Amino acid sequence: MDLAAFRELEPLCWRAPSAHNTQPWRLRYERWAVTVGWDPADTLPAGDPTGRDLRLSLGAFVETCLIVAADAGLRLDWAADHDESDHRVGRLRPARQPYRTPFRTGDVWDRRTHRGRFTGGPDAGVLAAVDDVARRGGGAVHVVPATGRLGALLRAADRAVYADPAVAAELRRWLRLDPARPEYRTDGLSDRCLGLSRPAAAGLRTALAAYPVLRPLGLPRLLAAGDDPLARGGTVLALVAPPDLDTAGQVEFGRVLMRMWLTLHAAGLAAHPLSQLVDVGATRDAIGALLDVAPGRIVHVTRVGQPVTPAPRSARRVERGSPSVRTFA
Ligand SMILES: Cc1cc2nc3c(=O)[nH]c(=O)nc-3n(C[C@H](O)[C@H](O)[C@H](O)COP(=O)(O)O)c2cc1C
Repeated sequence: MDLAAFRELEPLCWRAPSAHNTQPWRLRYERWAVTVGWDPADTLPAGDPTGRDLRLSLGAFVETCLIVAADAGLRLDWAADHDESDHRVGRLRPARQPYRTPFRTGDVWDRRTHRGRFTGGPDAGVLAAVDDVARRGGGAVHVVPATGRLGALLRAADRAVYADPAVAAELRRWLRLDPARPEYRTDGLSDRCLGLSRPAAAGLRTALAAYPVLRPLGLPRLLAAGDDPLARGGTVLALVAPPDLDTAGQVEFGRVLMRMWLTLHAAGLAAHPLSQLVDVGATRDAIGALLDVAPGRIVHVTRVGQPVTPAPRSARRVERGSPSVRTFA
């Protein structure tokens, strides 16, 4: 039975990306379907109050499940069925044919977010390929012009994010800066994945612990000035969704986002999302004006390029050979 066989593959599906690596998805195995839902404990109510990144992450997970199942020859398809109160987005169901996709489990396994240096950005062929992926979902991919304005917007977005105590506390909760702690190997954002040296990790830990005292003294400004991802190369891309995308549509667009990242990966490129540019209303508006698109349609912004060195692999709660997988009640 393909559903039972799918359970064995679940750890591979957990390689899907999620904002802050919270891995919010949960699977419920039923007789005729596997319901995909989420655990509110693994959402980001301060940093992602509308749930946009939650739904993009859930969509990325669904797409990953379909790819992994298809690569194993399992015949599963997807029936969207979004229900906020039941915390579910839909069901993986038995189908006549395996899901049709150019991607393989190896792509899912190897893809990583890369926050380091890039030698170059996507060429015209890759840009056309990712734009095509988005257009098939009713959206588009736009290059954000690399001007000084973009740098100023990124600093403004970082300052706004760090200035909000709830967002800073949430970030602190998901930061994994101490390799001795067990959570370091299960979820969240590790110092290695963030590309922080030991002293930088220690400095960040101290700064965030002293946040209430240091905030009025300009800590947000200091933290924002402390990093300049644009100086590490690449091209910044904006993923533009169809107008008036509803919550179920955002999950579907998470599937588009996953296909976009895997298309980049297949071309030897990696993505480094800069979601703060979308989270902060003023910078999202400014990017909309730069691209001449309605700001509400911009669902994701990411730096893209060819990594100089491989990125570290991020942690997952469920690994291959795990004795149990998590389900939702
Ligand atoms: C919707 C979404 C938004 C994200 N936003 C950011 C971001 O703003 N900054 C960042 O560094 N990483 C961002 N990420 C990347 C996640 O932190 C990353 O996927 C997670 O840590 C797991 O690592 P992996 O992608 O290497 O598997 C985002 C991922 C998703 C799916």
